Amino acid sequence: MTFPYYYITTPIYYVNDSPHIGHAYTTLACDVIARFKRLDGYRVKFLTGTDEHGQKIEQSARKANIEPKIFVDQLSLSFKNLLEVMNFSNDDFIRTTEERHVKFVEGIWEQMMDSDNIYLGKYSGWYAIRDEAFYSEQDIIDGKAPTGAEVKWVEEESYFFRLSQWQEKLLKFYEDNPDFIAPESRRNEVISFVKNGLKDISISRTSFSWGIKVPNDPKHVIYVWLDALFNYLSSLSNNIEDKNNYWPCDLHVIGKDILHFHAVYWPAFLMSIGEAPPKRIFAHGWWTNEGEKISKSLGNVIDPIKLVREVGVDYVRYFLLREIPFGNDGNYAQNNLISRVNAELVNNIGNLVNRVLKIIYRDCDGKIPTPNEFSEEDNKILQNSYKIVDKVRSEINKQELHKALASIISLGEMANGYIDKQAPWRLIGKDVDRLSTILYSLVECIRIIGILLQAFIPVSAKNILFNLGIKQNLVEEGIPLSYAESKHSIASGQLIPEPKALFSKL
Ligand code: MSP
Repeated sequence: MTFPYYYITTPIYYVNDSPHIGHAYTTLACDVIARFKRLDGYRVKFLTGTDEHGQKIEQSARKANIEPKIFVDQLSLSFKNLLEVMNFSNDDFIRTTEERHVKFVEGIWEQMMDSDNIYLGKYSGWYAIRDEAFYSEQDIIDGKAPTGAEVKWVEEESYFFRLSQWQEKLLKFYEDNPDFIAPESRRNEVISFVKNGLKDISISRTSFSWGIKVPNDPKHVIYVWLDALFNYLSSLSNNIEDKNNYWPCDLHVIGKDILHFHAVYWPAFLMSIGEAPPKRIFAHGWWTNEGEKISKSLGNVIDPIKLVREVGVDYVRYFLLREIPFGNDGNYAQNNLISRVNAELVNNIGNLVNRVLKIIYRDCDGKIPTPNEFSEEDNKILQNSYKIVDKVRSEINKQELHKALASIISLGEMANGYIDKQAPWRLIGKDVDRLSTILYSLVECIRIIGILLQAFIPVSAKNILFNLGIKQNLVEEGIPLSYAESKHSIASGQLIPEPKALFSKL
């Protein structure tokens, strides 16, 4: 039997500082997609990790008066800790200081050298340590990089990658693979950038030493972006099967600021060593905090760990993905978090589950009732529930995570409308047949909502499914998406536990 494989990655995070909400956001999006794909029958590899070399990190370590290796060991741990706090389900965590990565990158360098993609020259131009990026004279605005980062003039011997030779091949690749860069507007930006002409890029530095040494020329360290991008492959390098199954990667999720590295440099690097480029790169937008750019100097950095402590992990996960269309910029406002959670999770989903299960527990001997004949309205809510599964699947496959959540929430609204109209409480003790059919239809709808929410808010979704009396071990394993069909509908007579409130109001 062959399985479909799915490989998804986050960027690897610079360990110059503690993780903030932006880092949590990128990994969260990947986590939801990875969880969803697993439930949908894929063998998933979900990779994240830390980017630990380069001048920026060397500088931060020096500022903290700590040896770079000790410094990166400490900070890498704080990124690992975030994974647990946010309930992320990564299958691997790569650090660029690990031997499997260093050896791999050295091998890549040699391959690029042997295939004449690298030559020795001299670099003179601007360098922004914050961005770990080179800028030309035309890029500089008011003495700064276009990103606002400070720049320094650099003149040093450097190895170059012949990026200029890949311009036509890249354009052809974008044309042949219209889904390679998403969202669409980002794809257009990249294409016009490449059409404007590509220059060879400097890929080694001699003015500091914290990095992977250039094989046979150790006064050079390999440019941190060349080093870092290859994490997506070095993580597969210990096992040939992994490489065969997972490459080309299905999806790199990144922030919009690092799109050029991923959509221009990365496929060119890969083509230069005869490897296929990834299938898709999705660039998401940036968060601001109460309308302001998030920055350390403004003192408005949002600590995801603190936020989780304050409101709980599922509320943070829900809000971040629901609040802004994935791909757009968005603003974090505490009031919006509170009102969304209260309206959509507490009042909509929580209330629905509570209303239905309370009647079943109290008035139906705590057993899932046996339905009788379904009315047109019962059939409508049932059909809508099953149909939404395909809709959500297709939204996730396009990385429209906000839409997928909206679809699930809309099912909750529909069910609340149905319950108000059918008013099952009025049938208690009067019309058992009709009461049972209505409750059964609602339980099915709740079951589908629970299955679909597993990827987004795993703890709460499990609670929904437990509350329906589904066995604990099955819920813990994850209920596959294929169970969200009528042929797997819930068994009548199944006992439910005493219903407990799912969500508490903020
Ligand atoms: N180390 C590189 C990536 C190398 S990948 C081969 C890097 N690291 S980073 O730590 O600076 O940023 C990692 C990710 O966090 C990026 O995708 C970036 O867009 C994201 N975010 C940083 N701040 C953010 C916000 N304020 N909002 C949303 N995401 C942001 O770049």
